Amino acid sequence: VITKVKARQILDSRGIPTVEVDLYTNKGMFRASAPSGDPTGMYEAVELRDGDKGTYLGNSVSRAVKNINGKISEALFGMDPVLQSQIDQAMIDLDKTEKKGELGANAILAVSIAACKAGAAEKEVPLYKHIADLSGKTSLSLPVPAFTVISGGKHAGNNLAVQEIMILPIRASRFEEALQMGSETYHHLKAVITEKYGAHECNVSEDGGFAPNISSLKEALDLVNEAIGRTGYGERIKIAIDAAATDFCIGTKYDLDFKSPNKSGQNFKSGEDMVDMYRELCLEYPIVSIEDPFDKEDWEHIKNFFSLGICQVVGDDLLMSNSKRIERAISESTCNALLLKINQIGTVTEAIEVVKLAKDAQWGVVVSHRRGETEDSFIADLSVGLATGQIKAGAPCRGERLAKYNQLVRIEEELGSEATYAGEDWRQSS
Ligand code: PGA
Ligand code: ZN
Repeated sequence: VITKVKARQILDSRGIPTVEVDLYTNKGMFRASAPSGDPTGMYEAVELRDGDKGTYLGNSVSRAVKNINGKISEALFGMDPVLQSQIDQAMIDLDKTEKKGELGANAILAVSIAACKAGAAEKEVPLYKHIADLSGKTSLSLPVPAFTVISGGKHAGNNLAVQEIMILPIRASRFEEALQMGSETYHHLKAVITEKYGAHECNVSEDGGFAPNISSLKEALDLVNEAIGRTGYGERIKIAIDAAATDFCIGTKYDLDFKSPNKSGQNFKSGEDMVDMYRELCLEYPIVSIEDPFDKEDWEHIKNFFSLGICQVVGDDLLMSNSKRIERAISESTCNALLLKINQIGTVTEAIEVVKLAKDAQWGVVVSHRRGETEDSFIADLSVGLATGQIKAGAPCRGERLAKYNQLVRIEEELGSEATYAGEDWRQSS
């Protein structure tokens, strides 16, 4: 049973405060922490920050920590950690608000994850296995990693409008080989960028992607293609884009020069222009997935693009991991994959529910990190336990990103001959 829940404030990978929890049971101590990213809107769970500008520029989470050490610890005392949904429900009931703004979704999520780890230990099974049990599934699979290799958008100081170019080693034989393919491509890319623009253009963004000062998407894709070419893996590696187009949508136009101070206005594109641009790029490059190709409220153009059926279309800002938005996107045929950010939901139980919703609609599911990460590797186990088929956790570099990928190597090793790499089934892993 749960005997104590103790929280503290730590710093995330950006150097911004976040919540860490130590949850104690008779089996020991189980630690978890909450990731953090830019809030996208009114549909996601609330990250509770103090807002006192004199401390950590307003970003302290001492209220969330206090809520755990007081109310949450009291409410969970004596509960069985195996009963995840009851634990999560107890916190939801205690919070009483729709978006977890009273206790803080950062407080609730960190406790929910710690309880999940404690539940696995109680049953003496690996975490991914416990997660599979909670979801009622029996099959496990190692996800195809989407490694961020070039960063732009709000993630980088260059002039590239789109946020991320990723590589997917779909035709690796196992996860460990996918990691090798990702790492080798990443290092070839570093050499390509150095040769073309100089070593000073090899700085990396917060999630580890290179951020050379380029401004066109084609230029970025050419660099990645060149790097893939040098590895000799050819068709075994595919490309994905996270446009995060909400960040460069101005009114009804898309400003591909949104970060450039001296823009001429020439690079303003209409929604139809954007549909054409994506279609042409998909023909020219091995692009298999595009995330948030349009503004989060531009349901019309994303629908038009999706109806072309040329690649997986992922909803991140569009869906905000919110079940009502997912249901709308399913019924209106707007996209066919969910980007799952667990801190936008706030509990493990509810995260499992939205994954089910997406999978029942034959969608792909991408378990995702956030820009602000910690060394917690929970999402690695989550992606295996729910057999999501895809995980996006940044570049194959930087400790907080590797915490997830390295955990997947360990899980694959532990599963031995039972391990299946999602590979070609990445979009609808069973
Ligand atoms: P975020 O980035 O954590 O900054 O939201 C991740 C993404 O956009 O996919
Ligand atoms: Zn995104």
